[in-house]
Amino acid sequence: HSHLLGIEPLTPSDITAILDLADQYVELNRRDVKHSNVLAGLTQVNMFFENSTRTQASFELAGKRLGADVMNMAMQASSIKKGETLIDTAMTLNAMHPDLLVVRHPHSGAVDLLAQKVNCAVLNAGDGRHEHPTQALLDALTIRRAKGRLHRLSIAICGDIAHSRVARSNIMLLGKMENRIRLIGPPTLMPSEIGAFGVEVYDDMAEGLNDVDVVMMLRLQKERMDGGFIPSEREYYHRYGLDALKLNHAKNDAIVMHPGPMNRGVEIDGEIADDINRSVIQEQVEMGVAVRMAAMELLARNRRAKSPEVMA
Ligand code: CP
Repeated sequence: HSHLLGIEPLTPSDITAILDLADQYVELNRRDVKHSNVLAGLTQVNMFFENSTRTQASFELAGKRLGADVMNMAMQASSIKKGETLIDTAMTLNAMHPDLLVVRHPHSGAVDLLAQKVNCAVLNAGDGRHEHPTQALLDALTIRRAKGRLHRLSIAICGDIAHSRVARSNIMLLGKMENRIRLIGPPTLMPSEIGAFGVEVYDDMAEGLNDVDVVMMLRLQKERMDGGFIPSEREYYHRYGLDALKLNHAKNDAIVMHPGPMNRGVEIDGEIADDINRSVIQEQVEMGVAVRMAAMELLARNRRAKSPEVMA
């Protein structure tokens, strides 16, 4: 692959290759071996048109740990604010010969469009409600390490599915790896194309969580509910917020996940989020750095193989 735009084009063996390499980086990161020259001489530009804590920080750390020159574009201070289009901005950067472009954008499909216009490898750091591939990969690595496998698991994805690129990428990845996927949430927050996903749908947490191995919570994404129905936080927490009582329906060793940023007391009880025996939320963040290191290394290797004179 020349880019990482989504999970959709990846095969199960592509996914396994990224996770296997990421596993090696987890061990190196833990042993404080945080520098290599895998991306030495390459320039990585991060363009975030939407807020980010985890994704931007981990892409930056991942690039630096692999020896790339990393530049974070301050999009609030960029010429986008003067009316320049996304494509003109991208073409301008392209003329400076970056090797890796990491892009987050509020519009679904914007990152794919940009990838068609530039010469470098593009990594999607989240586009609208479309895809967030590195999030799904880091979630997959977290699950694989916690459960010892990434197939034949019962996985519940809960909450605001309709507005979630995290859910879309996870449904695709976990489906490709042959897991049983349940979506739990209010019918108003289920996507219209749900029939195409091959998943089970529930609007009752107790029923949907029955005997699952993995409970993946999602943030209520009010910023994407433009003009639509916004549930009250109290009512939402009562029906769909993960608390100890609801979690009791899952398997005894079920893990609890959340991609962050998390709204405590809205979609998840703070005590559950902090329970180190159940919650793997901090592991997810740790896996994020390793997965992004692996994804960038594989793309750089692929580009070197295609044009060795350019990326010697
Ligand atoms: N999970 C995630 O994408 O978090 P950020 O928005 O902080 O990057």
